[in-house]
Amino acid sequence: MSAEIMDQIDEAVKAVEKDLEEEPEFALILGSGLGVLADEIEDPVVVSYEDIPNFPVSTVEGHAGQLVCGTLEGRQVVTMQGRFHYYEGYSMQEIALPVRVMSELGCEGLIVTNAAGGINRDYDAGDFMVISDHINMTGDNPLRGENPDELGPRFPDMTQAYDSTWQDLAEDVASEQGIKTRRGVYAGMVGPSYETPAEIRMLETMGADAVGMSTVPEVITANHIGLRVLGISCITNMAAGILPKPLSHEDVVEIADQVRPDFIKLVRAILQEFGKH
Ligand code: 6GU
Repeated sequence: MSAEIMDQIDEAVKAVEKDLEEEPEFALILGSGLGVLADEIEDPVVVSYEDIPNFPVSTVEGHAGQLVCGTLEGRQVVTMQGRFHYYEGYSMQEIALPVRVMSELGCEGLIVTNAAGGINRDYDAGDFMVISDHINMTGDNPLRGENPDELGPRFPDMTQAYDSTWQDLAEDVASEQGIKTRRGVYAGMVGPSYETPAEIRMLETMGADAVGMSTVPEVITANHIGLRVLGISCITNMAAGILPKPLSHEDVVEIADQVRPDFIKLVRAILQEFGKH
């Protein structure tokens, strides 16, 4: 089984690598509405997921479904334009594969962004949250099954799942850019239904500040393989029951549109700063 996983990764890596002139340093997984950052990559090498052996193919409309490799703020990056969500029906192992491929391509760090609902009552729609930790509420784990020992340990430590130095750096960079950030805990749910108010009260009691439907599988996979992780949530709306109004996907999209310029500015500035460390 694990030999099979290694073969799948190797095949995918070979297919991407042959088009690349330089090794990527950073992997980027861009959440809803931030995929446009990939369009700003200089000298891009674009590889469609369809052309990468063993890659899942994305189903969500508006997600391009391609790796975009190239230069951003002078750093070599590989970007997932379009990500895989557990709620779409992909297995955790399928979601893990691209992270492993980006690591094997040479990346040492992963920057992951997402849209999330605000649970912390101090938060507002439009806020950015540097993720300090997560709570895996999916009931599943991408590392379940035989462990490919070549990739990482059977029981990986998750005490610094989100690199604390990078959290500090991201906050410093944001404040230099005049962008306000929060720092908090992300609860990862399966979705696709949003939570009930009772579920949000539960998550609040558990210590979650924001809630979403992504990120957790990728970050577990990244920790297993030894990638440093930075996670940033865009709080696109307050979670159910926090405000006296229902949630709508349209509100999420609207806020994502509004904050996009700042979000892009922030990720660019972070890349520039990370290059120095
Ligand atoms: Cl309120 N919940 C979840 N699970 N995902 C979200 C969200 C809420 N808002 C944006 N994404």
